[in-house]
Parts: sequence; C-alpha cells; structure tokens
Amino acid sequence: MTPPASTIRCAGCGYAADPDEVYPFRCPRAGTDDTDHVLTRVLRRPGASFPRGGEPNPFLRYRDLMHSCHVAAAHGIPDARYRGLVASLDAAVAAVDGHGFAVTPFARSRELSDSLGFSAHGGVWVKDETGNVSGSHKGRHLMGVLIHLAVMEEAGLLDPAGRRGLAIASCGNAALAAAVVARAGGWRLTVFVPADADPAIASRLGGLGAEVVACPREPGERGDPAYLRLREKLAGGALPFTTQGNENGLAIEGGETLGYELVTDLARLPGGLDHLVVQVGGGALASSCIQALREAAGLGALDRLPRVHTVQTAGAHPLERAYRRVRTLLPPEPGPVAVRRAMAHAAAHRSEFMQPWPETPRSVATGILDDETYDWRAVVEGMLMTGGRPLVVSEDLLAEASQLAVSATGIRADPTGTSGLAGLLELRRSGAIAGTDRAAVLFTGIRRQAAGH
Ligand SMILES: Cc1ncc(COP(=O)(O)O)c(C=O)c1O
Repeated sequence: MTPPASTIRCAGCGYAADPDEVYPFRCPRAGTDDTDHVLTRVLRRPGASFPRGGEPNPFLRYRDLMHSCHVAAAHGIPDARYRGLVASLDAAVAAVDGHGFAVTPFARSRELSDSLGFSAHGGVWVKDETGNVSGSHKGRHLMGVLIHLAVMEEAGLLDPAGRRGLAIASCGNAALAAAVVARAGGWRLTVFVPADADPAIASRLGGLGAEVVACPREPGERGDPAYLRLREKLAGGALPFTTQGNENGLAIEGGETLGYELVTDLARLPGGLDHLVVQVGGGALASSCIQALREAAGLGALDRLPRVHTVQTAGAHPLERAYRRVRTLLPPEPGPVAVRRAMAHAAAHRSEFMQPWPETPRSVATGILDDETYDWRAVVEGMLMTGGRPLVVSEDLLAEASQLAVSATGIRADPTGTSGLAGLLELRRSGAIAGTDRAAVLFTGIRRQAAGH
C-alpha cells in the first residue's frame, strides 16, 4: 500500500495516527494532561495543486485534499468508485433533506457595502450558507466524517454489520445537520440536548430518527451538561459525530470545504480579500476557514491571507479571553516564530488559557454561546498570524446586524448567522477597517420558525 497523501497528527502533542486508523477522530492522549489535543489532517504532497474542478458538490470538487480520498487511493479504490460513493451518499442526503451539498453563493452585496460606507473598490462580500443542507454550514463538518466512515467500510477496514452508534451534543444547527447526515448514511445517532431545548427542534430530530436525550444540569456541575453526557457516551464506545475538532478532528476537514470555496471565488477577485469576519461558538467554523485558507496559500492558490477576525457575544467570550492571555506572552508586533512559540506554550498549558465561561450566557445569537471555545488554539493562532482580532459585540449590535442583513440582502439568516456582520459593523465604526477594504462575512444559518437555544 502506498501511504496516503495526508496524515492525521495531533496539533498538541505530535501523535501521528496509523494510516489505517479507522477512527482518527480524537487524540488518544487527550485528557491525560493539560495539553490541548486536536487531531489535524496534514497534507504531505508538497507538489500538489489546489483543485480547479467545476463539480457543484464541494466534496467532489475538493476531494484531492480530503483524507478519505487519500485513504481510498492508498487502498486501491479507483477515483471513479470514490466519486460514486460520495455521489450516492449525497443522493441519500438529498432524499432526506430535499437537496444535497452544492457550493454556496459568494457575492458582493452592494446594499450592505453602501450602508457600511464602503467605496466602490472595497465592500462587503457575503457567503450564504442558509440554503445549505439542513439550513446551515454545519453539515459540511459531518459529511466529511460520513464519507470517511463509508471509505473505511469500502476498504474493508470497518464491518458495516458492526457499526457503533454516533453521538453529538447540540440543540441547534449542528444537531439538525447531524441527524440529516446520519440518517442519509444509515447510522444510529444520539443527540444530547439541554433541558430547555426548543421542543420544535427536539421533535424534528426525533422525526429524523435520532434518539434525543435531555440533559438537566446536575447540582454543582461545571461545564455544559449536554457535553458532559456526550463525553460519557463516547467513553462507552459511541463515535463522535460532533462539529468540534477536539472530539473529531476530521470535522474540521469537512468544514474546510467552505474555505476552499472562498478560495475558488477569490481567484476571480483581483486584489483579493482584506478581512474575513467569522462568528465563533465552539470555534470549528473559524478553525476550518483558517486551515483551508492557509493550505490554499501553501498550494499557491491564494496570494495572501485575509485578516481573520472573530466575533463572540458580551454574554460569553472565552476565545477573546484566551487571545488576551496569549497576547501577554508576545511583543506588540509578533512575527510567525514568536507566535508559534507562544502557541506551543499555550497548547501545553490549556487550562491557563481556556476554561468554561463561569456564567450561563444569554444572547439573541444562540448558536455562539458555547461556554468553551473547543477549537481555540487554531483560531487564536490564525488571528495572530493574520493580524486579525477577537471582537465582543453587544446585543444591540447583534440585533442591528440581523435586521440590516435581511433588509439589505434579502437573505433570511438568523441572528447567529449574521453575527459576523455585527463584528464587521464594530470594525468599521471603530475605524479599524477602511472604506476601501474588502471584507467577507458568512451568513451561516437560516432563520427558523421557532428559534431557541
Ligand atoms: C449558524 C451558526 N453559525 C456559526 C456557528 C458557530 O460555529 P462554531 O461552533 O463552529 O464556532 C454556529 C454554531 O452553532 C451556528 O449554528
């Protein structure tokens, strides 16, 4: 067997998964020390180029960068069979959700650009994920994992008759996406939700065949109860079907399809993009974007990285707190070597930088209220490397951005989905972004009938 064109390594401790590892999801050393362990797919073909295919399905278009495709090739599975596998899974997603995965729109919004006072050269570009599978970007993370599991079965490394159950903790977009994608693949799924989860979402999850488990907070318990119950289930043998890189590093790779699509679109934008403003809950979305952009730059498909800024709410901003703590280790204008050194120190002393937020946060942007930013390390490093900054926005600004987004673009995104725009408003008003700059935001989730946390 020729080795796959990518490896799976822990960004915290350097552990390298065996090329035939069936579940290269979580670092086996995670939880044994204070190191931040996240398995990361590392491309190892220096001569590889960025995919230029025109397939509408991003998992086909960018397959040359996917670990599952590399594993398939290493096991002698021909490209046509891999493509057939992805296409049949996508058809199954379409049968469940009405449509499968397709590259999502990315365009300059004249109305938003004008209302934020940008010049004709600058402006606001919007990537619209509201029409994606199950109404958000979340399915991207999980489709990547599903394809990986299917390839393992195709390669004979996993017995379809002995499938373990999948599990996730979420009560919103991630859970809905997981339920759609798991059902499409014919996998059993358990979803741990908070005790006050929106009954409409719980019932939709049940309708999709997921087992829904409500998780009240136990007296004296610290951290998110649904996440704690998930960890127990995973310890019992369930597979992490999560959108958090620390639980399932391959979820980041699936999320990278969003960043790769940006790269493809930016090739048609002479001069490139100056800023990308990303809302952060658990951090997988931002981590995926950062990794995709960095890889594309490494493959020569992007001349320069935009500054990546992040957005959290005043109710909970554990990422911003971690960033501030790392910043104290650095000079005012740190170079890449200093950043890498500081991040290596931070990753080895996780609890000094990232802890669960002490208060139960509330916000109109319910999807970014995670009390911990699980993928904080990659995101803090991404901000430091690109010159971005962490923003903490008020409820007023979130509401303003939400209204402006819908009235200016007609895209029916929810307040979490438009919270990146709240960050951009803040950056514009503080003068940190000039009117001639080009900035992108991600409208990540659709407005649903009955919204809830
Ligand atoms: C619509 C939407 N956008 C953004 C996010 C944030 O993504 P992440 O948790 O990966 O930071 C979420 C998370 O639930 C979401 O639902």
